[in-house]
Amino acid sequence: MSDDRKIIFGGDYFPEQWPEEIWEEDLHLMKQANVNMVSLGIFAWALLQPDEDTFTFGWLDKVMDLLADNGIDVCLGTSTAAQPNWLTQKYDDILFMRETGERPACGSRQTYCINSPSYRKAVRRLAKEMALHYKGHRALKLWHINNEYANKNSMCFCKNCEKNFQKWLKKKYKTLANLNECWGTVFWSEKYSNWKEINTPRASAGGRNATKLLDYKRFLSESFFTLYKEEYDVIRTITPDIPVTTNFEGDWSKFDHFLFRDNLDVASLNFYPNPSDLNSYKWAALRHSMMRSLLGKPFMVMEQAPSQVDWYPVNIAKHPGLMRLWSYQALAHGSDSVMFFQWRASKKGAEKYHSGMVPHYGENSRVFKEISALGNELKKVKDIADSKVNSEVAILLDNDSWWSVDSPYGRGTKSLDNEVFWSANGQPFPTVLVSYFGELEYYFNAFHDLNVPVDVIGIDYDLSKYKIVVAPLLHMIKPGLKEAVQDFVKKGGIFITTYFSGVIDEFVGVFLDGYLGPLKDVLGVKVEEYNPLPPGGKNRMLMTENAEGFRKDYGCSIWCDVAHPITAKTLAAFTDGYYSGAPSLTENKFGDGKAYYVATRPDRDFMRDFLSKILSEQNIKVSPLPEEVELVVRSRNGEDYNFYLNHGETEKHVKLPEGKYEDLLTGAVYENILHLAKYGVYILRTKERKS
Ligand code: GAL
Repeated sequence: MSDDRKIIFGGDYFPEQWPEEIWEEDLHLMKQANVNMVSLGIFAWALLQPDEDTFTFGWLDKVMDLLADNGIDVCLGTSTAAQPNWLTQKYDDILFMRETGERPACGSRQTYCINSPSYRKAVRRLAKEMALHYKGHRALKLWHINNEYANKNSMCFCKNCEKNFQKWLKKKYKTLANLNECWGTVFWSEKYSNWKEINTPRASAGGRNATKLLDYKRFLSESFFTLYKEEYDVIRTITPDIPVTTNFEGDWSKFDHFLFRDNLDVASLNFYPNPSDLNSYKWAALRHSMMRSLLGKPFMVMEQAPSQVDWYPVNIAKHPGLMRLWSYQALAHGSDSVMFFQWRASKKGAEKYHSGMVPHYGENSRVFKEISALGNELKKVKDIADSKVNSEVAILLDNDSWWSVDSPYGRGTKSLDNEVFWSANGQPFPTVLVSYFGELEYYFNAFHDLNVPVDVIGIDYDLSKYKIVVAPLLHMIKPGLKEAVQDFVKKGGIFITTYFSGVIDEFVGVFLDGYLGPLKDVLGVKVEEYNPLPPGGKNRMLMTENAEGFRKDYGCSIWCDVAHPITAKTLAAFTDGYYSGAPSLTENKFGDGKAYYVATRPDRDFMRDFLSKILSEQNIKVSPLPEEVELVVRSRNGEDYNFYLNHGETEKHVKLPEGKYEDLLTGAVYENILHLAKYGVYILRTKERKS
């Protein structure tokens, strides 16, 4: 075991917002709080490059040296998320364009167009100058490219994007005839006879071509990646030994995050659950799991709020103990860092009401005291760094299915223009009550309620390391997926998919002869039609004699597929409607494994019973605990770190598995029963170590 193992602790640091006298105090307080890394230079472009040919690194050198002298590492931002005004003024292609044709005004961040040649050129140059300048600096331990790609500029409709989109389409489809065929442009007389006719898919009079919309979203998604890659390549060449990251949001709808996986040394997450919502910890568990699964190794929490944020409608403070609890929750799910936005709460600017590790009130504040206590406490848990969460269950996340089910512009949610795009403006769909990510979250939460860790992986990830793979609303089936699923099940895996899956191909063409399409064989069932239920509408799932270990029946809602088994057994059937008796749950033996198809949205009782059954069949440990108590296990070299977290506001009691356990945080030894205080955190390892 290496001795330099540690949990990274710190936050975004903006010394440029403060006079130099404050820097000394910052250093003093950082040491007091045991800060060991800060992110610098995230939004400092205008200060680093005051005009096209001048670079002014002097002030940053001073800060870097100071930090190095005090043993604090630097995660160095490349500053490219907020370009300077001179650049925007000088080149007329810099700003992104909204669907309405307007461009955002200067004066904020993320106003750039991701395909602007002038922006990209300037980004490459700044990255190069920074990498050359800081190459070999004692403090430099990690690069942080840009900041939260797509946060405000996820969709651009400017001429450059249009031109690049046309090029992208030419490369993909080769001929217009092929494009017309694949896009189905015979519908509504949309046929293109010249590449230049293909505009960006802006609002039209009614529903738009779904293949075009999806291709545009794919094109923009790739543009985010290629933009990142431009900086990555420059930095990598100059400082090959320094790892590179970019901080992602918890919302993965804006671009396909899996595109980054081969060019990212560490995945990092900005996570901002709402403290007013008691279920926020479930929300967070999913985001942490996504980030951990992206590279299949520990990730970093790059940002979280020390107390309140300033962008929910009402921003309540994190009550005493909550910041600590959520920090440990991140560690439990596989983070090796606890970092914050930001070190010192700003005095001026757009975010002055956002909390900081050092609040406006200074070091004698509740928040700083809690921060400092946590920073020091983390020294006790350094052994967990680099340990793994071993998941035997995976959920597939497919952005193409997501964008096909929910409009690429976000159906029923606010778009970047803060307008609601009704289905006619995006793309028509059978019901607004279905949400791709909502379904994914529903399945994730059902496993999470049983304290079973789940990885969230892309459809081209290796399935063989899992025992159960769930693909909620796998609407699109791309080439290769059928074979991957079949292979997984044949070798003994359990595969589960849901209603409205296997409906379209990669070009958004519907599979004829029964939905479930290429998955029909493995599932042994095909779907004739669907019936979305009205708001509040219910049906019931009556379990058949084929189903063991279930109650007699369960409720279901939102959607009912009308399916016909081919080789599958019907485990449950709908009780109501003209399709009463049609299967609502089927099971198909395929090779050594089984494939399940769920034709509806079952209630939570069903989810608990169904998942418990298949988890036990696959010998996966289930730990039902009192509501609001979470258990996550990280392991290394046969040693388990059992994180028991009480997200509730009252004391809870948990029966421990046989044995004696020692708490890493307090040294206390527990046996039989663990009493968990409100917001309590206990990291238990077996006292008698295995040899
Ligand atoms: C993040 C962003 C930070 C800060 C923070 C406030 O989205 O990356 O720079 O604005 O939100 O909560």
